[in-house]
Amino acid sequence: MTGPPILVTDRLLLRPFTLADAPEVQRLAGDYEIASRTLEIPYPYPDGAAENWIATQRSGFEQGVHVVYAVARAREGDLVGAVGLVEVNRRHGRAELGYWVARPCRGRGYATEAARAMIEYGFSILELHRIYAMHLSRNPASGRVMEKCGMVHEAHLREHDRKRGTFEDVDVWGVLHDEWRERCTVPAIREFRMH
Ligand SMILES: CC(C)(COP(=O)(O)OP(=O)(O)OC[C@H]1O[C@@H](n2cnc3c(N)ncnc32)[C@H](O)[C@@H]1OP(=O)(O)O)[C@@H](O)C(=O)NCCC(=O)NCCS
Repeated sequence: MTGPPILVTDRLLLRPFTLADAPEVQRLAGDYEIASRTLEIPYPYPDGAAENWIATQRSGFEQGVHVVYAVARAREGDLVGAVGLVEVNRRHGRAELGYWVARPCRGRGYATEAARAMIEYGFSILELHRIYAMHLSRNPASGRVMEKCGMVHEAHLREHDRKRGTFEDVDVWGVLHDEWRERCTVPAIREFRMH
């Protein structure tokens, strides 16, 4: 099986990671600010962790449990972040959206553009019924991305996650297939490209 198709958006290319991306992933995701707002990204980011993470992506895709994309700027070609659908659950037709964007590239709408493409992929290719996303409540920028994607704020979970020994509040957002079809008036993916 080949990996997922490249997704072309207005300014971005969402493409599978390759092992050649590992040093840049380690550099960009090794930013404490990213680790402090996510649950799974380690800090300090150890040598070899990016290679391991990238290596699991193909098998996870083949098993249908997740789809992870490198987010690159189409014109410059540089890596600016990552986006993915994880916890893909066929029985319930749902998956969880996640993303990060490198600090120098924030505030330009890249996370929203990548997340919208991922949602479209989830509904049109994976034929999901529901896509949800969760963020630490002290990370409102991520909630704003979810809101801009047309997700609905569904819950505030008190002390739901334990992060470095501290229980933290979490917010949950979600969008259903039919809502997305109603709300997504601007195409989220311009082109699917096989590689
Ligand atoms: C959250 C994150 C992905 C946003 O990336 P981005 O490319 O800057 O996102 P966008 O530009 O698409 O949108 C960001 C929005 O958040 C808003 N925002 C930024 N800081 C904010 C804050 N402190 N409070 C509220 N909104 C904020 C921006 O103004 C923008 O909204 P606008 O377009 O209405 O002005 C990025 O900051 C990041 O990677 N953070 C660390 C990792 C992380 O949090 N991942 C998500 C885990 S759930």
